[in-house]
Amino acid sequence: MLEIQNLTKVYDNTIRAVNNLNLTVESGEIFVMLGANGAGKTTTIDLILGFIEPTEGTALINGIDIVKEPLEAKKYVAYVSENVMLYGNFTARQNLDFFTKLGGNKDATKEDYDEAMRRVGLPEEAFKRRVKSFSKGMRQRLGIAIAIMKNAKLVLLDEPTSGLDPRGGAEFLELLQVLKSEEKAIFMSTHDIFRASQIADRLGIMSKGNLVALMERDEIVKADLQEIYMEYVQSYNYDQVGEVAETITEDTDDER
Ligand SMILES: Nc1ncnc2c1ncn2[C@@H]1O[C@H](COP(=O)(O)OP(=O)(O)OP(=O)(O)O)[C@@H](O)[C@H]1O
Ligand SMILES: [Mg+2]
Repeated sequence: MLEIQNLTKVYDNTIRAVNNLNLTVESGEIFVMLGANGAGKTTTIDLILGFIEPTEGTALINGIDIVKEPLEAKKYVAYVSENVMLYGNFTARQNLDFFTKLGGNKDATKEDYDEAMRRVGLPEEAFKRRVKSFSKGMRQRLGIAIAIMKNAKLVLLDEPTSGLDPRGGAEFLELLQVLKSEEKAIFMSTHDIFRASQIADRLGIMSKGNLVALMERDEIVKADLQEIYMEYVQSYNYDQVGEVAETITEDTDDER
């Protein structure tokens, strides 16, 4: 469903935010991308969404090239960011109606919206409430309901669980299972190793724009993910720490 081919993004001719990424995500599969701050996760998602242009390579969504046919490709994608974009003065149902119609589905009924909101676990009393009173978890749920209504085949999520409390985070994983059971292809970025290991069918680790590790479910279950993550992601910091340590040693020598 998602096929990333040699995807590369260089900012300002210097920052190689994503470097020659190759990856596929199938329908009914949850792919989780781990990586430190600045690893290139958001840039990857922005490239797949067609928000920014790649320096090289492309991504195919449902076989459609996001660079060559962005409007067609975008029909098959839904996006849930850390802070879901909603209209605060609209009710939940009105937001759902607005974004569903924007996504090209003009025939949806009130019943369809309510059904989608029930599926993501929003309480009935919230359907008619303005979303500016919603908690972060409720906004996330509505974001997923929008994705369900759009009937997107690919759902991209950028750190969707950040800022959710433990229960909200756990419930969010259940929502992802709902999407998976609907045969969506799911690509999610996170810093949360614990949740990643619970939910991922396949898992990648990005470091400085490179995909440095790729694991299947059976490996994820067995592995000490924390250790593997540290090994790959901390190497950059080790170099820096090394330099600082050397400088300190020299200073000490001078004083003596
Ligand atoms: N618009 C931009 N212009 C220049 N550099 C950018 C831009 N956006 C991102 N970068 C750089 O690209 C690299 C990757 O950033 P990106 O936001 O993709 O990382 P990330 O993995 O999402 O990090 P985080 O976990 O902090 O969200 C970083 O070095 C970042 O500074
Ligand atoms: Mg990011």
